[in-house]
Amino acid sequence: MKHEIKLFVNDIPYNITVNSQDTLLYALRDILHLTGTKKGCGEGECGACTVIMDGEAVRSCLILAVEADGKKIITIEGVSANGKLSRVQRAFVEAGAIQCGFCTPGFVMAIEAALRKKKTKKEELIKAVSGHLCRCTGYENIIKAIDKIVRG
Ligand code: FES
Ligand code: FES
Repeated sequence: MKHEIKLFVNDIPYNITVNSQDTLLYALRDILHLTGTKKGCGEGECGACTVIMDGEAVRSCLILAVEADGKKIITIEGVSANGKLSRVQRAFVEAGAIQCGFCTPGFVMAIEAALRKKKTKKEELIKAVSGHLCRCTGYENIIKAIDKIVRG
């Protein structure tokens, strides 16, 4: 069954048609071509697909596009401003917390969501990314990036 839905993504309104079973991840990547959000497991296990929906970090592979109708979504494409990396993105680059980069948008969005909710302590940011999987970094440099974010 087809549904007309409206998504506000990175402050831009989109009217799109989706199937009942389409996920928000599919709508973002395959309909809106916002491919910064990654598909890892597709089952809610890895965090690669994390976006912010109405202020909460969510795994977009677990949300049906129809459930996101009318919601405000922020993706990795929406966190930099005027071509400048966000503070979180910069910290990841400076700490060398990116190798293949596949998991990075999910980590960044989870931390962005926490910071926007005024969670600024190291433990809070670590909790925000717990359950996010990275196959490359060994997590050490991701923790260093979090240290940089906490130091400001
Ligand atoms: S792709 Fe959504 S949690 Fe892995
Ligand atoms: S940097 Fe490769 S999966 Fe995390």
